[in-house]
Amino acid sequence: MDGEEGSPLEIFAHRGASGSRPENTMAAFRKAAELPIDGVEFDIHLSSDGVPVVIHDETVDRTTDGSGYVKDLTLNELKRLSAGCRFADEYSDERIPTLREVLELFRDKPHRLNIELKSDVFPYPGMREKVIAMVREFGIADRVILSSFDHVTLEAAKREAPDIETGMLFVEILADAPASAARIRADALHPAMPFAVREPGRLAAAKGAVLRVYTVNEAKHALMVREAGARAIFTDYPDRMLNLLK
Ligand code: G3P
Ligand code: MG
Repeated sequence: MDGEEGSPLEIFAHRGASGSRPENTMAAFRKAAELPIDGVEFDIHLSSDGVPVVIHDETVDRTTDGSGYVKDLTLNELKRLSAGCRFADEYSDERIPTLREVLELFRDKPHRLNIELKSDVFPYPGMREKVIAMVREFGIADRVILSSFDHVTLEAAKREAPDIETGMLFVEILADAPASAARIRADALHPAMPFAVREPGRLAAAKGAVLRVYTVNEAKHALMVREAGARAIFTDYPDRMLNLLK
């Protein structure tokens, strides 16, 4: 049964291998793609001209040399920015990837792809449908997990694409997370770490719920999460976790 102590803990590279490369860049994804890990996670917003792009924040300010909301910039404007220079000079040529570029990189790889729909602040009309259509175009529905803190969008995604797995992201210690997930027909719980290692998370795992836990960067935390019965971790350091867990 899922969640036995000592069962394998799957490793997902969080925002690509973002501990050693600039987050959500092709450099981070190439590093993740060459590792024998289970999956990779990345975040999607929509440009002003309607292109799904891979970046974490609503604005470009923290991770690029530009400023402004992603939703107010065209793809061309976004592509002019460096998505790596704030991390290290050697990555200054890195650009904000499109979803298509990341799917092409992983097309022939075994990795599962956790596509996080970042519609929890701005609604990005049409983003969910575009992501689902592209997943279909690439024929990778069986390898994709759609996740979001926006549970309304997640429920709609499951309605529109019942064959694509969904993961309900949350940060709280929810009283009855499995019931919340069932209400939106989510296939898995994607909690922050405290939930996973406390009683509600342990109980959910023991009853068969799939838990993928973010963001786990310390060895001792990974071991706690595994002992608590979770299925997977999202980590910025997939190579370190490979050495520890595999
Ligand atoms: O999907 C797990 C994790 O990425 C959720 O939080 O803020 O890093 O996107 P965040
Ligand atoms: Mg994310």
